[in-house]
Amino acid sequence: MTSWTPDSWRDKTALQQPRYTDTLALADAENELAALPPLVFAEETRQLRKQLAAVAKGEAFLLQGGDCAESFVDFSANNIRDTFKVILQMAVVLTYAGRKPVVKVGRIAGQFAKPRSADIEQRDGEELPSFRGDIINGSEFTADARVPDPQRMLKAYHQSTATLNLLRAFAHGGLADLHQVHRWNLGFVSGHPQCEQYQRLAHDLQDALSFMEVMGINSENTPVLRETDLYTSHEALLLNYEEALTRRDSLSGQWYNCAAHMLWIGERTRQLDGAHIEFMRGIHNPVGVKVGPSISSDELLKLIDALNPDNDPGRLTLITRMGADTLAEKLPALAKAVTSEGRHVVWSSDPMHGNTVKASSGFKTRSFDRILTEIQQFFSVLRSEGAHPGGVHLEMTGQQVTECVGGAYRVSEEDLANCYRTQCDPRLNADQVLEMAFKVSELLR
Ligand code: PEP
Ligand code: CO
Repeated sequence: MTSWTPDSWRDKTALQQPRYTDTLALADAENELAALPPLVFAEETRQLRKQLAAVAKGEAFLLQGGDCAESFVDFSANNIRDTFKVILQMAVVLTYAGRKPVVKVGRIAGQFAKPRSADIEQRDGEELPSFRGDIINGSEFTADARVPDPQRMLKAYHQSTATLNLLRAFAHGGLADLHQVHRWNLGFVSGHPQCEQYQRLAHDLQDALSFMEVMGINSENTPVLRETDLYTSHEALLLNYEEALTRRDSLSGQWYNCAAHMLWIGERTRQLDGAHIEFMRGIHNPVGVKVGPSISSDELLKLIDALNPDNDPGRLTLITRMGADTLAEKLPALAKAVTSEGRHVVWSSDPMHGNTVKASSGFKTRSFDRILTEIQQFFSVLRSEGAHPGGVHLEMTGQQVTECVGGAYRVSEEDLANCYRTQCDPRLNADQVLEMAFKVSELLR
């Protein structure tokens, strides 16, 4: 294998990249980024790798979720808090009702760059370059906004550091204390069906905690009751940014991407001879790769060899995104190949990206039932192939948006216009995602 450097991807074809016209401005931004502190510490990513190894063995469950695209305008402490709370709620449901330790990974603090199916967007006969995420250009439909601006990488970096700072404070400063489980409930859900289901679970958990308290186990003397770990992740799409935040760890001498704990490669950029695989093979973070319906078993095994040549169980997560109608047809052969070749991977289900449809009103949406169906099929196929259904990867928010239809509150196509806020793909709202956690916990038991 040829030698790897953080910039060796530059000799390969990189799809889905912006065309920066001002190369001096680009170099300035890259140099400035390269001199800024890392967001995460290599040792943290090694801890995550260990936890993912447990997931690969079926001893834990991976919960990965967050916005499709973080945005500059929706950046606020309340948004971060609500995403954090809803992830904690889901994790407690999956742990307590599903009886599995949960590894929590946010699509957060760096999830800004978006691959697009078309380079050009048309509106009313006018054509402009597509919006590629706030780290690249602006979403407003004007020629100015759509010009890629390298300074946006710095803005994304600073927003990510502020986000991560608050997440760390929440995780270690008391908000995540299991004794607060009632308070993680988001105000607007009270009176609704899974709010009550959640309150019952929280009540049972309080009972268990009171019993432990009597036995002398409390938050004071038992840090796992009062603290948690929420790891960060994003799609490693914009390679100029990823390279600038890739650093050599002084303890191990190995290279780590220090922009997030975990990175993944999207469905559109996983070409075996492409720049994204080249970049990802050299960093020591845990990595993921999206696996869509067009992949063959042979191609999948080659991808696994490229990204995880040592067959290390915590290194690689395969994130399937097939669509509810397609998964049962495509996944069995893939799972068979991976299992019979003895490859250690985490299997995780992204039930979102294969189930996007256009509502008659024009909004992109996804149905709760299709999402749930894909997850259920994922569990059943992997189990019958002797593999572990290891996790879910969701686009979700702690906000009460109306972007996906269905769920216990029956968000309808007519409701979509009420609160459709996503920058890119439709997300499950806080109610829908909590309901999904209860459904998944039934599959885990
Ligand atoms: C995403 O996760 O937002 C995404 C674009 O997914 P995919 O690469 O699977 O299409
Ligand atoms: Co998306």
